[in-house]
Amino acid sequence: MKVICTEKSQVLATHVARALKTTVVDVNYSRFPDGEHYLLTGEIDDEMVIVGSVVDSDSLVQLMLLADACDRATSHLVLPYMAYARQDKRFREGEPVSSRVIARALSQGVSDVITVNIHEREVLKSFTVPAQNLSLATDIGTYIGTLKLDNPLILAPDEGAMVFARQVASAGGWECDHLEKTRLSGIEVKMAPRQLSAQSRSVVIVDDIISTGGTIMTAAGMLYQQGAKDVFAACVHGVFTGGAYVRLMATGIRDVVCSDTIERSCSRISAADQIAHALRKH
Ligand code: R5P
Repeated sequence: MKVICTEKSQVLATHVARALKTTVVDVNYSRFPDGEHYLLTGEIDDEMVIVGSVVDSDSLVQLMLLADACDRATSHLVLPYMAYARQDKRFREGEPVSSRVIARALSQGVSDVITVNIHEREVLKSFTVPAQNLSLATDIGTYIGTLKLDNPLILAPDEGAMVFARQVASAGGWECDHLEKTRLSGIEVKMAPRQLSAQSRSVVIVDDIISTGGTIMTAAGMLYQQGAKDVFAACVHGVFTGGAYVRLMATGIRDVVCSDTIERSCSRISAADQIAHALRKH
């Protein structure tokens, strides 16, 4: 078994390979003069692990090209972050179900798929090969433990994220709640923990994705107004679109961390061990 990866998932792929005691196949990624992607791989094994997050259109094309370049092997696709997974329904007439499009396209030429904290588990059914989802909730909880916070409060940004937040909290036996929005007037909205008080406490807001950071920025500002001692944010997929990381830090959030499903300098939690563990079971 050997590992191969897209350009933007090189660090995670290397860590997965190390955990599997194997190597990463060298790939020469380039483009034709008209901008089309081209790639040339080193020697392919009979069994391949293709690691690549869909973070943009380029990484999607590279994944499809890699699957084809490995067509003589049995290939397992590891899709740590899957962009388009949030468009999992036709919310308005005329829209595509984008997650279905991506899932079907990426099922071509692979025997199975492993995702990490996919936004909606239902999306797994859109792959035309067996697909399983891993969760980094416990790993995030373990990371929070290393911060040695005094009795932290783990907060989900909404009720839907409570299952994830509870798993994070159970890693340290901490209290957990979710934020609730109350409309105070036509223009004023209050966001506060539903049951517990943030007063004088270290609060860690946890979510699967931080994209624009809007949700967490609003929450952090209000938690400080409610007397929180410190606010931290942790997520699996650090998308940080349009300068979100800078803006989050500017709101006074003590630290923002993510995993390496999208490789960032604040990727302090790794999905590598869980991915390797899942692959060993194949
Ligand atoms: C939403 O359902 C997700 O779990 C995240 O809460 C959301 O994607 C975060 O988006 P943003 O960072 O843009 O507020």
